[in-house]
Amino acid sequence: MNKLAPDYIRAIAPYQGGKPITELAREMGLEVNSIVKLASNENPLGISPKAEFAIQEALLDIARYPDGNSFALRDAVSKKFNVAPNQIVFGNGSNDILELAARAFLTTECETIYSQHAFAVYPLVTQATGAKGVVIPAKDYGHDLTAMLAAINAKTRIIFVANPNNPTGTLIPKDDLLAFLKQVPKHALVVLDEAYDEYLSAANKSEAIGWLNEFENLIISRTFSKAYGLAGLRVGFGLMHAEVADILNRMRQPFNVNSIAQAAAVASLADEDFVARSYAANQGGMAQLTQGFDTLRLSYIPSYANFISFKVPNAEAVNLKLLENGVIVRPIANYEMPDYLRVSIGLFSENARFLEVLSQILNSANIK
Ligand SMILES: Cc1ncc(COP(=O)(O)O)c(C=O)c1O
Repeated sequence: MNKLAPDYIRAIAPYQGGKPITELAREMGLEVNSIVKLASNENPLGISPKAEFAIQEALLDIARYPDGNSFALRDAVSKKFNVAPNQIVFGNGSNDILELAARAFLTTECETIYSQHAFAVYPLVTQATGAKGVVIPAKDYGHDLTAMLAAINAKTRIIFVANPNNPTGTLIPKDDLLAFLKQVPKHALVVLDEAYDEYLSAANKSEAIGWLNEFENLIISRTFSKAYGLAGLRVGFGLMHAEVADILNRMRQPFNVNSIAQAAAVASLADEDFVARSYAANQGGMAQLTQGFDTLRLSYIPSYANFISFKVPNAEAVNLKLLENGVIVRPIANYEMPDYLRVSIGLFSENARFLEVLSQILNSANIK
């Protein structure tokens, strides 16, 4: 039966997510509570108490369809980011925005451009449309914008840029990004994926929203899954020129963001204190992990996000040992980084447990 699907669909390698805690518990016979999951860049602080309250309230009304236009959330995002309501598209996670952009603008005749080691969803959404993905070799594990510009041709319709990038955590300096946007021809859209922007310091924070008026071909994607902690609810948004938003809105499912997610997102946006605490906890956890790696004499790629990729001898075997000990991190061989593992920043105790187990594994004779 699978031959009924086009070749380009059959060629897709499915997305590999972080291993769920319950799956590892079943596989290894471990207690769910004993497992530390640092594999999916989730917020270890959970969610804002304001969002928790909003979720309880929204639960009372779930027999009804959600507001298909996300009126209250649109109003909140519009005010917070100073963009017109018709420049916003909501998605079932920001993943949905990436996919909507691909489905709306790509045909089998088109090309997309993205970097080696960039977020795995860019090739996936490209392949699902039958378009050709052009991978540009990374420079110091980050985007080589000069090479990406040189790869643009008449068929290029979307250029994906992750800033910071997952899984390498690299950040493109603002001036470089702006210079890049100025050189991208208008027949190519730039999808600027800013899923981790809330984890950037004030000095590094993106200014791209202020560039939307200048670049009609710019789509900025943001998410509530990371610093806002709403990964399980699936809500993100894209900011773009109103004409581009109109196209994406034609493609999306009418009720792609559920009512609980909408209510939680509105409440989360209003809780700046929670985001500030999440940022501070991440800074502390990042310092804890990098110090730990230094002590273990492991090299890592300095990261601007809420995870860090480190180099370890025999990464696959180390990952297996971590799993046996109830610690879930993310192997990234599928990102052409077989010698690295990516660990998300957790609570102090979770980071400590990870470092302790890692140290024991590295000291044991059978890994080397
Ligand atoms: C760079 C990047 N973009 C987008 C996403 C998608 O997140 P979500 O669909 O939960 O908003 C992720 C999630 O890991 C990511 O790392």
